[in-house]
Amino acid sequence: MSQTPAFLSNAQSRARWMRNDVAHLLKRFFFCERSLLVTAAAWIPAVGPLETKIGLARFIWQGAETAHALRDRVFELRFPNRILEEQGTDHTLIALFNSVKDSPSVPAFLLSIGKVLLPALRDAYQEYFGASDTIADGPTHRFLALALSEKVEQIAAFERWADSALSQNSEWREDALSWMRTVADRLSDVGGVGVGPAPSVSTAWGALPGAKTFVIPDRPARDPRFWPCRFYWPDVVDPTYPYGEGLQLQIRSAISHLNDVWAIETGGVILYSFADVLPWEWIHNSARWTYDEARHCQMGYQRLMSWGFEPAEIPLGTYIYESASGEDPIYRLGMLYFFETKNIRHKPARAQLFHDYGDAVSEHDMDFDWADETIHAGYGRHWLKELLVVRGQDPNAHERVREHCDKLVSDYVSTATPEEVAGIKRIAGAIMTKAARRS
Ligand SMILES: [Fe+2]
Ligand SMILES: [Fe+2]
Repeated sequence: MSQTPAFLSNAQSRARWMRNDVAHLLKRFFFCERSLLVTAAAWIPAVGPLETKIGLARFIWQGAETAHALRDRVFELRFPNRILEEQGTDHTLIALFNSVKDSPSVPAFLLSIGKVLLPALRDAYQEYFGASDTIADGPTHRFLALALSEKVEQIAAFERWADSALSQNSEWREDALSWMRTVADRLSDVGGVGVGPAPSVSTAWGALPGAKTFVIPDRPARDPRFWPCRFYWPDVVDPTYPYGEGLQLQIRSAISHLNDVWAIETGGVILYSFADVLPWEWIHNSARWTYDEARHCQMGYQRLMSWGFEPAEIPLGTYIYESASGEDPIYRLGMLYFFETKNIRHKPARAQLFHDYGDAVSEHDMDFDWADETIHAGYGRHWLKELLVVRGQDPNAHERVREHCDKLVSDYVSTATPEEVAGIKRIAGAIMTKAARRS
């Protein structure tokens, strides 16, 4: 007589991964997302096309939201907190992700992320769906499905931007393609992203062949379609030039919004600069901050285009970004905070004026912008204080940082040449003449 088994078993594959296995994988994904978004943030000033700057800002925000959800989920799985501060056995993989920051050129950066690292992460998420348990791990499935669809969109955009960058800089083609192959080979050497166990032995790799040590650009790249300048409206360099009302206020506000391009770049630079100094919440907040500034920039661009202007007629400046170049990056954080708090009080009144003019789009944009800026002023105050604390300084010194930013900007504005002042007055005059004809 056969003996009855003492235990039940079943053939279901649901138990393929135990709680700790899942936590390890999600932690790996967290570090991949974190690395990609920090690198993308650092590169925002170096890319020229406005569409790419705005798109990168949006993708780093998506990455930060995914990373945030991954991090929370790892904690839910009762993973010891301190372990989430280290990459552990995925160290070699994450070191490879981080090394893309030292890409030798814009096309090399776009290709290595768009053709290698993002597809590897997309494939890993797909594998994860195929193998994880929809019951026990349901909460992960919800946000990872969104992350997967965003990866598909990100890959398509990076490919498009890389093609366009290569078509304008064909001399970089060979180097960029060879960099992409180097990253792909090294990724394969370290075992890819995947959902398998991390290699038991971590290898210490040197810099990738062809790498160029990343430095924050002193001058931001600008979309060549626009009228290039440092000072983007006459009132910046001439205090007697009025900000204006009516038609002039409609134009001035749209020009201001478009020129929030400096704030996208500054958001990216500070996210990167303090990523390893401040806690995770810093990256989460500054990614959102950078994305919000990209939305403001897009608002201005769309309003100007819808009024019939050509990019070549529109000034796109650099002065606020350049005012803080060569300074401690705390002054870039200070610069964002300084401008948020300087302008926020005017916004509700301007939204009301646009309402009175019957300009619903300007009113709408200004009203949303005002809500964003209120969040940003809070970020600025909070993180300036936190950064001073981390540096062992008095957190109340944040007002001094702000005051120094005011001085940096006025010193920089004082370098405007008579030709620049005349040039921006001519451009502004031409815009107002065209606007008056169209109104
Ligand atoms: Fe803004
Ligand atoms: Fe802002």
